[in-house]
Amino acid sequence: MASHESGNGDDRRPLRVGISGLGTVGAALIRILTEDGEAIARKLGRRVVVTAVSARSRSRDRGVDISGFTWFDDPVALAKSEDIDLYVELIGGEDGPALASVTAALERGTSVVTANKALLARHGTALAGLAEKCHVQLGFEAAVAGGIPVIKTLREGLGSAAITRVYGIMNGTCNYILTRMGNEGIGFEECLRDAQDLGYAESDPTFDIEGFDTAHKLAILASLCFETEIAADQVMVEGISRITQADIKVAADLGYKIKLLGMARKVEDGIEQRVHPTLVRKSSAIAGVDGVLNAVALETNHVQELLLAGPGAGGEATAASVLSDILDFARGGHVPPLGVPVAELDPCQRAPMRIHEGGYYIRLNAKDVPGALAAIATRMGEGNISLESVIQRPDLRASEPGVPEENSRTVVLITHETLESAVRDALERIARDGFIVGQPQLIRIEEF
Ligand SMILES: NC(=O)c1ccc[n+]([C@@H]2O[C@H](COP(=O)([O-])OP(=O)(O)OC[C@H]3O[C@@H](n4cnc5c(N)ncnc54)[C@H](OP(=O)(O)O)[C@@H]3O)[C@@H](O)[C@H]2O)c1
Repeated sequence: MASHESGNGDDRRPLRVGISGLGTVGAALIRILTEDGEAIARKLGRRVVVTAVSARSRSRDRGVDISGFTWFDDPVALAKSEDIDLYVELIGGEDGPALASVTAALERGTSVVTANKALLARHGTALAGLAEKCHVQLGFEAAVAGGIPVIKTLREGLGSAAITRVYGIMNGTCNYILTRMGNEGIGFEECLRDAQDLGYAESDPTFDIEGFDTAHKLAILASLCFETEIAADQVMVEGISRITQADIKVAADLGYKIKLLGMARKVEDGIEQRVHPTLVRKSSAIAGVDGVLNAVALETNHVQELLLAGPGAGGEATAASVLSDILDFARGGHVPPLGVPVAELDPCQRAPMRIHEGGYYIRLNAKDVPGALAAIATRMGEGNISLESVIQRPDLRASEPGVPEENSRTVVLITHETLESAVRDALERIARDGFIVGQPQLIRIEEF
């Protein structure tokens, strides 16, 4: 077995790093390690050197010189190599070579740094347990909110403070789209196309825009916040693809912005983890986080609210977080990967959303027939749902496929705080009454 705490037993010898994955983040990491080599050596009192690398193509030009490193076709072989003190996984994907190589490194007694949120979201608890069992480190600062040091803050920066709620904007692609829709009055599809042209969004953007990427990051954060096992499959997820200009416009007129938020908190019935578009007051700090920026807010009993904001992705910012884990390892500190030993984690009990309470924005396409609005109001009243405002403007036209503009009127209802189950039941009854066309839009309102 390799030695554990800070690599190779002698704290002045260079730390030998093996990197699998030489894409956006891997290449940026090599560039930073090369350019900042002297500064890093001064900080640590030892050098950090890349000794071995792995990727799919050996010949691809990556803008960095890899000729001096030992090449491995197989990341698992690199992870098992005796010639590295630390294995850095920057391949991506929840299974496949990422999982196989990280497992191989930990089992061999080699510490690991990864930026892979998908891997952590699915296997994080088991991998943290394996790292503990093998007395090695598992660093994943870059896996959540790219360049923002939120994992270190949660693991080491808050003393004994108990976290009551965590929320944030954790996907730059969604934030870019919603910000442009708000600032420029353009539609979702056009903003998405621009995000793809600019390289913010993947060619298949489903994972980002339907909220799954945010859910992965939220599940990792929730585990660190509430000392529970990582449970990404228990996150309630709604994406932003159904947000229309009408929603953005009405929200703005009422003093709100729409943001895709990930939120988790401990409630009586368990842990509530949810990702969905949310109306937030324009005056709130989170509403000011625009464009591709990310932010994570931590509400605690001792330090009240802490808001960490910054670049959530991009090769350089993400590589800087990977490097911060590498330096921590080189210094020889030891912190359980998930903040407390895995044996101390509780299972993550999912709190049902139907008992969630809050304000709601509801957009309906009411049929242009006598009695439609009265019927809708009656159903709301029967559910004890008190309405703060009812908005009907000629400029709010249905913009959904299959909803004929001329025969329907767009109506927006804003509710006072109410139970989600009451709202859902009322909407079901309204749909059964036959006075609306298309699917109602339901957006939760959060006060921060
Ligand atoms: N990009 C960001 O802004 C960002 C932000 C936060 C976290 N992350 C995370 O960082 C990780 C890397 O992301 P990235 O954007 O750098 O990805 P990327 O640009 O797609 O690079 C992936 C790299 O992995 C290599 N690879 C793929 N399959 C392989 C295999 N079977 N064996 C060996 N190498 C293999 C690829 O080799 P080839 O180059 O030869 O094809 C490529 O170099 C992911 O987990 C991602 O979620 C990225």
